[in-house]
Amino acid sequence: MIIFDGKALALNIKSQVAESVKKLNKKLTLAVILIGNNPASEVYVRNKEKSCKDVGIDFELIRFSENCKQNDVIKKIKELNKKIEISGILVQLPIPNHLNEREILDTISAKKDVDCLTQENFGRLALGISDFAPCTASAVIEILKQSNIAIQGKKVVVVGRSALVGLPTQMLLTRNNATVTLCHSKTEKLKKITKKADILVVAIGKAKYITKKYVKKHSVVIDVGINRVDGKLCGDVDFENVKKKTHLITPVPGGVGQMTVAMLLKNILLLNS
Ligand code: GUN
Repeated sequence: MIIFDGKALALNIKSQVAESVKKLNKKLTLAVILIGNNPASEVYVRNKEKSCKDVGIDFELIRFSENCKQNDVIKKIKELNKKIEISGILVQLPIPNHLNEREILDTISAKKDVDCLTQENFGRLALGISDFAPCTASAVIEILKQSNIAIQGKKVVVVGRSALVGLPTQMLLTRNNATVTLCHSKTEKLKKITKKADILVVAIGKAKYITKKYVKKHSVVIDVGINRVDGKLCGDVDFENVKKKTHLITPVPGGVGQMTVAMLLKNILLLNS
Protein backbone atom coordinates (compact mmCIF):
# COMPACT_ATOMS: atom_id res chain seq x y z
CA MET A 1 0.00 0.00 0.00
CA ILE A 2 1.29 3.43 -0.97
CA ILE A 3 0.40 6.63 0.89
CA PHE A 4 0.74 9.38 -1.69
CA ASP A 5 3.10 12.17 -0.61
CA GLY A 6 1.44 15.37 -1.78
CA LYS A 7 3.92 17.59 -0.04
CA ALA A 8 6.94 16.12 -1.83
CA LEU A 9 5.35 16.26 -5.29
CA ALA A 10 3.99 19.76 -4.69
CA LEU A 11 7.47 20.94 -3.69
CA ASN A 12 8.84 19.46 -6.88
CA ILE A 13 6.24 21.25 -9.02
CA LYS A 14 6.79 24.48 -7.11
CA SER A 15 10.51 24.42 -7.80
CA GLN A 16 9.79 23.90 -11.52
CA VAL A 17 7.33 26.83 -11.46
CA ALA A 18 9.87 29.02 -9.62
CA GLU A 19 12.42 28.23 -12.31
CA SER A 20 9.97 29.12 -15.11
CA VAL A 21 8.90 32.34 -13.33
CA LYS A 22 12.56 33.39 -13.20
CA LYS A 23 13.05 32.65 -16.91
CA LEU A 24 9.88 34.54 -17.82
CA ASN A 25 11.50 37.80 -16.76
CA LYS A 26 8.11 39.36 -16.12
CA LYS A 27 6.54 40.23 -12.79
CA LEU A 28 3.48 38.07 -12.12
CA THR A 29 0.75 39.03 -9.67
CA LEU A 30 -2.21 36.96 -8.51
CA ALA A 31 -5.21 38.93 -7.25
CA VAL A 32 -7.49 37.03 -4.88
CA ILE A 33 -10.94 38.27 -3.93
CA LEU A 34 -12.09 37.03 -0.54
CA ILE A 35 -15.68 37.76 0.47
CA GLY A 36 -16.76 37.40 4.11
CA ASN A 37 -14.95 35.55 6.90
CA ASN A 38 -15.29 31.84 6.11
CA PRO A 39 -12.55 30.36 8.36
CA ALA A 40 -11.64 27.61 5.87
CA SER A 41 -11.34 30.15 3.05
CA GLU A 42 -9.07 32.28 5.22
CA VAL A 43 -6.72 29.29 5.58
CA TYR A 44 -6.84 28.40 1.85
CA VAL A 45 -6.12 31.99 0.84
CA ARG A 46 -3.18 32.22 3.25
CA ASN A 47 -1.78 29.00 1.74
CA LYS A 48 -2.16 30.43 -1.75
CA GLU A 49 -0.38 33.62 -0.69
CA LYS A 50 2.54 31.71 0.82
CA SER A 51 2.85 29.43 -2.20
CA CYS A 52 2.83 32.37 -4.63
CA LYS A 53 5.55 34.11 -2.65
CA ASP A 54 7.60 30.89 -2.50
CA VAL A 55 7.82 30.79 -6.30
CA GLY A 56 8.26 34.51 -6.89
CA ILE A 57 4.67 35.45 -7.80
CA ASP A 58 3.29 38.60 -6.15
CA PHE A 59 -0.01 38.36 -4.32
CA GLU A 60 -2.74 40.92 -3.84
CA LEU A 61 -5.64 40.23 -1.48
CA ILE A 62 -8.88 42.15 -1.97
CA ARG A 63 -11.43 41.73 0.82
CA PHE A 64 -15.16 42.37 0.74
CA SER A 65 -17.49 42.17 3.73
CA GLU A 66 -20.05 39.35 4.08
CA ASN A 67 -22.88 41.72 3.10
CA CYS A 68 -21.13 43.43 0.17
CA LYS A 69 -22.98 44.42 -3.00
CA GLN A 70 -22.86 42.44 -6.24
CA ASN A 71 -22.01 45.57 -8.22
CA ASP A 72 -19.04 46.48 -6.03
CA VAL A 73 -17.50 43.05 -6.63
CA ILE A 74 -18.19 43.26 -10.38
CA LYS A 75 -16.67 46.74 -10.54
CA LYS A 76 -13.52 45.55 -8.77
CA ILE A 77 -13.11 42.58 -11.12
CA LYS A 78 -13.49 44.86 -14.16
CA GLU A 79 -10.77 47.10 -12.73
CA LEU A 80 -8.46 44.10 -12.22
CA ASN A 81 -9.18 42.88 -15.77
CA LYS A 82 -7.83 46.18 -17.11
CA LYS A 83 -4.67 46.31 -14.99
CA ILE A 84 -1.75 44.91 -16.99
CA GLU A 85 0.22 44.24 -13.81
CA ILE A 86 -2.43 41.73 -12.66
CA SER A 87 -1.67 38.32 -14.21
CA GLY A 88 -4.45 36.26 -12.64
CA ILE A 89 -7.71 36.76 -10.77
CA LEU A 90 -9.34 34.27 -8.40
CA VAL A 91 -12.57 34.63 -6.44
CA GLN A 92 -12.32 32.36 -3.41
CA LEU A 93 -15.41 30.12 -3.15
CA PRO A 94 -17.87 29.76 -1.55
CA ILE A 95 -19.27 33.29 -1.65
CA PRO A 96 -22.33 34.49 0.33
CA ASN A 97 -25.70 33.29 -0.99
CA HIS A 98 -27.07 36.74 -1.83
CA LEU A 99 -24.44 37.15 -4.55
CA ASN A 100 -24.76 35.85 -8.11
CA GLU A 101 -21.76 33.55 -8.35
CA ARG A 102 -22.07 32.85 -12.08
CA GLU A 103 -22.16 36.54 -12.98
CA ILE A 104 -19.16 37.26 -10.73
CA LEU A 105 -17.05 34.42 -12.16
CA ASP A 106 -17.97 35.33 -15.74
CA THR A 107 -16.83 38.90 -15.21
CA ILE A 108 -13.25 37.63 -14.86
CA SER A 109 -11.37 37.94 -18.15
CA ALA A 110 -10.76 34.43 -19.54
CA LYS A 111 -7.10 35.41 -19.94
CA LYS A 112 -6.83 35.98 -16.18
CA ASP A 113 -9.16 33.17 -15.05
CA VAL A 114 -6.58 31.03 -13.19
CA ASP A 115 -9.33 28.83 -11.71
CA CYS A 116 -10.76 27.96 -15.16
CA LEU A 117 -14.28 28.69 -13.92
CA THR A 118 -15.50 31.17 -16.54
CA GLN A 119 -17.99 29.85 -19.11
CA GLU A 120 -15.40 30.42 -21.80
CA ASN A 121 -12.57 28.43 -20.21
CA PHE A 122 -14.79 25.73 -18.71
CA GLY A 123 -16.54 25.35 -22.07
CA ARG A 124 -13.22 24.93 -23.87
CA LEU A 125 -12.31 22.16 -21.43
CA ALA A 126 -15.69 20.47 -21.89
CA LEU A 127 -15.34 20.54 -25.68
CA GLY A 128 -11.78 19.25 -25.59
CA ILE A 129 -10.35 22.44 -27.10
CA SER A 130 -8.00 22.95 -24.17
CA ASP A 131 -6.34 21.05 -21.32
CA PHE A 132 -6.47 24.09 -19.07
CA ALA A 133 -8.64 23.02 -16.10
CA PRO A 134 -9.64 23.88 -12.53
CA CYS A 135 -6.70 23.27 -10.19
CA THR A 136 -8.19 20.36 -8.23
CA ALA A 137 -9.09 18.41 -11.37
CA SER A 138 -5.56 18.93 -12.72
CA ALA A 139 -4.19 17.87 -9.34
CA VAL A 140 -6.09 14.55 -9.49
CA ILE A 141 -4.69 13.76 -12.95
CA GLU A 142 -1.16 14.81 -11.94
CA ILE A 143 -1.29 12.58 -8.84
CA LEU A 144 -2.31 9.56 -10.95
CA LYS A 145 0.30 10.22 -13.63
CA GLN A 146 3.15 10.90 -11.22
CA SER A 147 2.25 7.73 -9.29
CA ASN A 148 2.33 5.68 -12.52
CA ILE A 149 -1.33 4.73 -12.22
CA ALA A 150 -2.78 3.78 -15.61
CA ILE A 151 -5.93 5.77 -16.42
CA GLN A 152 -6.76 4.51 -19.92
CA GLY A 153 -9.56 1.94 -19.95
CA LYS A 154 -9.93 1.99 -16.16
CA LYS A 155 -13.23 2.18 -14.33
CA VAL A 156 -13.19 5.47 -12.45
CA VAL A 157 -15.92 6.63 -10.10
CA VAL A 158 -16.06 10.31 -9.14
CA VAL A 159 -18.33 11.13 -6.18
CA GLY A 160 -19.41 14.80 -6.28
CA ARG A 161 -20.58 16.87 -9.24
CA SER A 162 -19.46 20.42 -8.41
CA ALA A 163 -18.10 22.72 -11.11
CA LEU A 164 -15.04 23.24 -8.93
CA VAL A 165 -14.09 19.58 -8.58
CA GLY A 166 -16.34 16.68 -9.68
CA LEU A 167 -17.40 17.89 -13.10
CA PRO A 168 -13.99 18.99 -14.42
CA THR A 169 -12.35 15.90 -12.91
CA GLN A 170 -14.81 13.74 -14.82
CA MET A 171 -13.97 15.63 -18.03
CA LEU A 172 -10.19 15.33 -17.65
CA LEU A 173 -10.41 11.64 -16.76
CA THR A 174 -12.61 10.97 -19.79
CA ARG A 175 -10.10 12.79 -22.00
CA ASN A 176 -7.49 10.43 -20.58
CA ASN A 177 -9.63 7.52 -21.79
CA ALA A 178 -11.00 6.35 -18.47
CA THR A 179 -14.57 5.07 -18.23
CA VAL A 180 -16.02 7.50 -15.74
CA THR A 181 -19.15 7.23 -13.60
CA LEU A 182 -20.18 10.47 -11.88
CA CYS A 183 -22.10 9.98 -8.64
CA HIS A 184 -23.69 12.60 -6.39
CA SER A 185 -26.00 13.08 -3.42
CA LYS A 186 -29.01 11.62 -5.27
CA THR A 187 -27.21 8.51 -6.52
CA GLU A 188 -28.90 5.30 -5.43
CA LYS A 189 -26.85 2.34 -4.16
CA LEU A 190 -23.64 4.39 -4.11
CA LYS A 191 -21.68 1.60 -2.42
CA LYS A 192 -22.48 -0.83 -5.22
CA ILE A 193 -21.05 1.61 -7.77
CA THR A 194 -17.95 2.76 -5.86
CA LYS A 195 -17.01 -0.87 -5.10
CA LYS A 196 -16.43 -1.44 -8.81
CA ALA A 197 -13.98 1.47 -9.15
CA ASP A 198 -10.36 0.86 -10.07
CA ILE A 199 -9.89 4.51 -9.17
CA LEU A 200 -12.23 6.26 -6.73
CA VAL A 201 -12.22 10.07 -6.48
CA VAL A 202 -14.21 11.49 -3.57
CA ALA A 203 -15.34 15.11 -3.24
CA ILE A 204 -18.55 15.16 -1.21
CA GLY A 205 -17.67 17.26 1.83
CA LYS A 206 -18.72 14.64 4.41
CA ALA A 207 -16.05 13.70 6.93
CA LYS A 208 -14.87 10.05 6.79
CA TYR A 209 -17.97 9.05 4.79
CA ILE A 210 -16.20 6.48 2.61
CA THR A 211 -15.33 3.35 4.59
CA LYS A 212 -13.78 0.11 3.33
CA LYS A 213 -17.22 -1.21 2.39
CA TYR A 214 -17.25 1.36 -0.44
CA VAL A 215 -13.83 0.44 -1.81
CA LYS A 216 -12.57 -2.27 -4.17
CA LYS A 217 -9.51 -4.24 -3.05
CA HIS A 218 -6.19 -2.91 -4.43
CA SER A 219 -7.85 0.17 -5.90
CA VAL A 220 -6.63 3.77 -5.93
CA VAL A 221 -8.47 6.19 -3.65
CA ILE A 222 -8.12 9.96 -4.14
CA ASP A 223 -9.63 11.99 -1.31
CA VAL A 224 -10.45 15.58 -2.27
CA GLY A 225 -12.38 16.37 0.93
CA ILE A 226 -11.13 18.72 3.61
CA ASN A 227 -13.21 18.64 6.80
CA ARG A 228 -12.53 19.75 10.32
CA VAL A 229 -13.58 17.33 13.09
CA ASP A 230 -12.75 18.21 16.72
CA GLY A 231 -10.22 20.74 15.48
CA LYS A 232 -8.44 18.17 13.30
CA LEU A 233 -8.40 18.01 9.49
CA CYS A 234 -9.74 14.89 7.81
CA GLY A 235 -10.94 13.87 4.38
CA ASP A 236 -14.16 12.40 3.02
CA VAL A 237 -12.50 8.99 3.25
CA ASP A 238 -12.07 7.17 6.57
CA PHE A 239 -8.32 6.88 5.98
CA GLU A 240 -7.41 4.46 8.77
CA ASN A 241 -10.32 2.18 7.92
CA VAL A 242 -9.70 2.17 4.16
CA LYS A 243 -5.94 2.41 3.64
CA LYS A 244 -5.02 -1.29 4.01
CA LYS A 245 -7.45 -2.22 1.27
CA THR A 246 -5.95 0.12 -1.31
CA HIS A 247 -3.03 0.07 -3.70
CA LEU A 248 -2.61 3.84 -3.27
CA ILE A 249 -4.43 6.38 -1.13
CA THR A 250 -4.06 10.14 -0.67
CA PRO A 251 -4.01 11.40 2.94
CA VAL A 252 -5.68 14.54 4.33
CA PRO A 253 -3.81 16.74 5.02
CA GLY A 254 -0.76 16.20 2.80
CA GLY A 255 -2.47 14.86 -0.31
CA VAL A 256 -4.67 16.56 -2.90
CA GLY A 257 -4.73 19.94 -1.09
CA GLN A 258 -1.00 20.50 -1.44
CA MET A 259 -1.17 19.50 -5.09
CA THR A 260 -4.12 21.81 -5.81
CA VAL A 261 -2.13 24.88 -4.81
CA ALA A 262 0.81 23.70 -6.91
CA MET A 263 -1.51 23.35 -9.91
CA LEU A 264 -2.84 26.86 -9.29
CA LEU A 265 0.70 28.18 -9.62
CA LYS A 266 1.06 26.19 -12.84
CA ASN A 267 -2.20 27.69 -14.13
CA ILE A 268 -0.94 31.23 -13.42
CA LEU A 269 2.15 30.42 -15.43
CA LEU A 270 0.17 28.81 -18.26
CA LEU A 271 -1.97 31.93 -18.74
CA ASN A 272 1.11 34.14 -18.84
CA SER A 273 3.60 32.28 -21.03
N1 GUN B 1 -12.62 26.94 -2.65
C1 GUN B 1 -12.14 25.69 -2.43
N2 GUN B 1 -11.27 25.35 -3.41
C2 GUN B 1 -11.20 26.39 -4.26
C3 GUN B 1 -10.49 26.64 -5.47
O1 GUN B 1 -9.73 25.82 -5.99
N3 GUN B 1 -10.71 27.84 -6.05
C4 GUN B 1 -11.55 28.76 -5.52
N4 GUN B 1 -11.70 29.90 -6.16
N5 GUN B 1 -12.22 28.57 -4.41
C5 GUN B 1 -12.05 27.39 -3.78
